[in-house]
Amino acid sequence: MQQKKIIIAICGSTRKSSTNLHLIHAITELSKDLFEVKLYTTIEELPHFNPDLDVDPAPIKIHEFRHLLKSAAGVLICTPEYAMGVPGTLKNAIDWTVSSAEFSKKPVALITASSMGEKAHASLLETLKIIESTITAETQLLIPYAKTKINADGIITDNETLDKVKKLIISFSKFL
Ligand SMILES: Cc1cc2nc3c(=O)[nH]c(=O)nc-3n(C[C@H](O)[C@H](O)[C@H](O)COP(=O)(O)O)c2cc1C
Repeated sequence: MQQKKIIIAICGSTRKSSTNLHLIHAITELSKDLFEVKLYTTIEELPHFNPDLDVDPAPIKIHEFRHLLKSAAGVLICTPEYAMGVPGTLKNAIDWTVSSAEFSKKPVALITASSMGEKAHASLLETLKIIESTITAETQLLIPYAKTKINADGIITDNETLDKVKKLIISFSKFL
């Protein structure tokens, strides 16, 4: 039997009962026949990005993060918007990959699940473009009013959103 491809999921929220974390759980379940989702759980332990620290050898947490990304077939990012922008924790993590290029040619699915989210979504698309990740219109999704559409059991309760997420999963699996 062919081994399932591994997708690393990065949550832009470190909140315990994060809607984006619930969404990752929903996607893990919905995609289980297509690929395996592994949640990256220690994003808040990454040091603040500092070019002076971006040397060989990199800090251990950075080394581990980069290794995880390198070995993955793709990356799923689910994130809220904070103050009209990308949450600092997520941006910090991505900044650590600029020089080491783990996102280059890497298939990425991006979902911004927030109250609104347009600004963070647009900003992340710019960032993902400049670091050369492979992302298409079919592998990105903005979910506004996310808290009303995804519950704490990892169920997408809004049918339209569920449809869109299912379509994104299928598109993503096709270009892994
Ligand atoms: C400090 C802070 C700033 C926020 N700013 C925005 C914002 O600019 N745009 C937006 O859509 N939501 C904003 N929100 C609301 C969050 O997007 C919303 O609470 C979301 O559900 C958080 O994601 P999570 O449930 O995965 O933690 C903000 C929340 C916090 C705590």
